[in-house]
Amino acid sequence: MYLRRLELINFRNLNQQVVEPGIFFNIFMGSNAQGKTNLLEAIYFACTGRSFRTAKEKEIINRDCDYACVKCLLETERRNIELKAVLYPGKKNINVNGVSARGFPLGWPGVILFTPDDLKIIKGPPQERRRFFDLEVGPFHPGYSHYLSRYNKIISQRNILLKEIREKKAKSELLNAWNDQLCNYGSKILSIRIQLLKKFYPQVKELHRQLTGDKEKIDLYYLSSVNVTGLTTEEAIYRRLSEALPQIRNEEIARAQTLIGPHRDDFSILINGTDARIYGSRGQVRTIILSFKISLVRLWFKEINEYPVLLMDDVMFELDKERRHLILKSMDGIVQTFITATSEQDFDGEPVLRKNIYRVAGGKIID
Ligand SMILES: Nc1ncnc2c1ncn2[C@@H]1O[C@H](COP(=O)(O)OP(=O)(O)OP(=O)(O)O)[C@@H](O)[C@H]1O
Ligand SMILES: [Mg+2]
Repeated sequence: MYLRRLELINFRNLNQQVVEPGIFFNIFMGSNAQGKTNLLEAIYFACTGRSFRTAKEKEIINRDCDYACVKCLLETERRNIELKAVLYPGKKNINVNGVSARGFPLGWPGVILFTPDDLKIIKGPPQERRRFFDLEVGPFHPGYSHYLSRYNKIISQRNILLKEIREKKAKSELLNAWNDQLCNYGSKILSIRIQLLKKFYPQVKELHRQLTGDKEKIDLYYLSSVNVTGLTTEEAIYRRLSEALPQIRNEEIARAQTLIGPHRDDFSILINGTDARIYGSRGQVRTIILSFKISLVRLWFKEINEYPVLLMDDVMFELDKERRHLILKSMDGIVQTFITATSEQDFDGEPVLRKNIYRVAGGKIID
C-alpha cells in the first residue's frame, strides 16, 4: 500500500498542508515541537481512522479551530481509496470514494508504527508485551481480537463474582459456569498465541541477527501462568486450565482476582541468553523493537501480498552508525517509510538513494 497524497486541515499544529510522498523513504526533518510527530499521527489516522497518541479525538483538532480534516489517497493492490475524515468535537464523518462510510475501509492494519514509547514493550511490565502482541501480532489471526474481547469480559464478570463470593453475597458453585467460559476462551487465545509466536519468532530472529551484524542472538519465549509446555491444541490447553483452576480457588476468592489465564501471561525476551528487560541497553532495546516492527511489515507481505506503510518516529536516536545503516538497508526499496529526525547527521553517509526530504517548521511542511 502507498500513501500517494495527504491533505490536512487544522490537524493539531498542521493548519493547511498537502504532502505527496515518494514510495520509498520520506524523511521529515525539523527541530523539536514543529509538527513532525503530528504528521506521523495524521498518516496513521489516514490509514486506520485512529490516533496512536490519544483516545480523545477532539485533542487532534487545532486548539483555535472547531474542526479538523484529513484527506488522503491510498493506493492498494486491489483498489485506490480516496478517503476524507472530518472531525468535530465528539463526532467523526468518514467518506470513502465519495460515499459516506461507517468505518475505515482497510480490512488489515495497513500501517506499522515505531515510536519511542514502544521501548516499554521490552522494559515495561507484562501488560505492555501482551498489548503489543494482542494489537500488532493478533491481527494475523482473523478471530483473535473477537476471542480476546469476549475473554476480557469473562474475566471482569468472574472477578465481580469472586468478590461477591468473598463477601458471602453469592454461592461459590456459581463459579463453575464462569470457569468453563474462562477455559473455553482462554484455551482459544493461548493456542492462537502459540501459533502466532511460531510465525513471528523465526522472522524476528533472522532479522535481528542481520540488524546486529551477527553479534546478537535473540530468543523469545511465551511465559504462561499455567504450564502449557508441549501443549499446542486448544483441547489440551482447555484441560490444563480446567485442572489448574480448582487448585487456586481459595486464593482467587481471597484476592477476588482471576489468577491464571492469558491475561496474566508474559513473553520472555533474551539477548545472548540474558533478559533484555533487565540488562538490555537502550540501543539493544531499540534494535529489538525495530526487528519486531520490520518483521511485522514482512509478515504482512507474506500474508496478503501487500506491504503496510511504515512510520518511524525518532528512530535513529541512540543507534550507532552501523546499526542505523543496517536498519535503513533492511527497508530500502521495499516499503514506503516515513521517518522523523531532528538532525540531518542521522543520515550522513547513508547511501539511501530513493529518499524525499522535507523540512517541518512551525506546522509547515516544506519540500
Ligand atoms: N490540538 C493542537 N492544536 C495546536 N497545536 C497543537 C495541538 N496538539 C499539539 N500541538 C502542538 O504541536 C506542536 C508540535 O508537536 P509534535 O509532537 O509534532 O512535535 P515534534 O516536531 O514531533 O517535536 P519533537 O522533536 O520534540 O518530538 C507542539 O508544540 C504541540 O503543542
Ligand atoms: Mg516528535
